[in-house]
Amino acid sequence: MTYVIGPPCIDVKDAACVAECPVDCIYVGGRMLYIQPDECIDCGACEPVCPVEAIYPEAFLPAEFQKFTEVNADFFQIAGLGTPGGAAYVEPVEADHPVVHAWPEPSPT
Ligand code: F3S
Ligand code: F3S
Repeated sequence: MTYVIGPPCIDVKDAACVAECPVDCIYVGGRMLYIQPDECIDCGACEPVCPVEAIYPEAFLPAEFQKFTEVNADFFQIAGLGTPGGAAYVEPVEADHPVVHAWPEPSPT
C-alpha cells in the first residue's frame, strides 16, 4: 500500500505534507507534489495536514481519483527520478505526469 496525492493538489502545492513525512518521500513536480510509492511507509502523517484533502491511502481513494495511484508512481519514471531515497537529494522537477499536465486550470473568477 501507499498514500497517494490526488488532483486537489494541482496548482495548490501547499507543501504542508512535506514537513510531516518521516521518510521524505513527497517530491515536487511542476503543478503538484507526488508520493514515491516504493519509499512511502504508510504512516498516514501527511494526510491530515493537507488543507485541500488531496492525500488518501491508496485503498480509500475516491473513485474519481483512482488513476492517481498510477499517476504518482509513473511520475518517478517519467521525471527520471526512480527511487532517490529522499526529496532532499533531488531538485524540484518542473515536469508533470501527462494527466496532470493536461489537467484544466481553474477558471478565472
Ligand atoms: Fe499538495 Fe496538500 Fe501536500 S496541497 S503539496 S498534498 S499539503
Ligand atoms: Fe510519507 Fe507517511 Fe505520507 S511515509 S507520504 S507521511 S503516509
